[in-house]
Amino acid sequence: MNAKSYRCVVTEHGCRRFEGRVAVITGAARGIGAATARRLASEGAAVIVVDIADEAGREVAEGIVRAGGKAEYRHGDVASAAVWEELAGHARQTYGRVDVVHSNAYHVVVKPAHRLDENEWDAQLAVTLKASWLAMRAFAAALEESGGTVVLTSSVHALVGLPGHPAYSAAKGALCALGRQLAVEYGPRVRVNTVVPGPILTRAWDRVADADRAASVAETVVKRFGLPEEVAAAVAFLASDDASYVTGTSLVVDGGWSIFKASS
Ligand SMILES: NC(=O)c1ccc[n+]([C@@H]2O[C@H](COP(=O)([O-])OP(=O)(O)OC[C@H]3O[C@@H](n4cnc5c(N)ncnc54)[C@H](O)[C@@H]3O)[C@@H](O)[C@H]2O)c1
Repeated sequence: MNAKSYRCVVTEHGCRRFEGRVAVITGAARGIGAATARRLASEGAAVIVVDIADEAGREVAEGIVRAGGKAEYRHGDVASAAVWEELAGHARQTYGRVDVVHSNAYHVVVKPAHRLDENEWDAQLAVTLKASWLAMRAFAAALEESGGTVVLTSSVHALVGLPGHPAYSAAKGALCALGRQLAVEYGPRVRVNTVVPGPILTRAWDRVADADRAASVAETVVKRFGLPEEVAAAVAFLASDDASYVTGTSLVVDGGWSIFKASS
């Protein structure tokens, strides 16, 4: 694409950057994925909400439709190659195109490295990392055809070490590398970027004690949790033509968490 093909359909509802486009979003039943589904749909995308939490996933899709948008829910474990092939076939038959793939689902087991068993390691790598390769493999042809874009969800665990997250951190660090790699392999037609969230108030924090939550907030510059919608805004930017000259980058959305040190 070039500057002349920039897409932002301006209506009374504002700039709809995804009008006529189709987006596949994983881990979209809740949290950041759900917020991204709503954001892209509000800007005109038809969204395929993918998750294993069927009730919550259906609610997200139905909520989008009730609000006047286009969405459907598909059950799918992102660690399965067959699921990705089925999704690609479904998207081709139903929509005839795919413009955005947001690979966002994850799995974490919090334990030190010496206590993780092999299955726990493999499961985290499969859902958090392998799924993004499977996504690219399944949708490469469709994205090449549409001149589409991919956004991977990494984490600040890619940048610093935190106790108890060896497999999660390894997967998140690898996602930034994979994003760069795929950007090189599939450019210039397909742009691939990674979003790197810090502490974002989702279900992921349910199991975290109040004192640890407060400590994480204190370690940000903005002194609060981020909202899923604030990450969704970054994903929407990276996936839109506003980011038409941005590929292979990792965009940190962490309220300054990763650049802040309290010591002087
Ligand atoms: N919340 C944070 O503080 C934070 C920080 C950094 C990075 N992230 C990343 O953001 C992404 C979204 O996290 P969130 O906080 O919104 O979590 P969340 O728990 O609210 O949502 C994650 C969703 O992924 C789904 N999921 C889990 N395993 C799946 C599988 N095998 N197949 C399909 N779907 C599956 C879950 O059912 C859930 O709906 C993750 O990649 C996470 O690592 C979150």
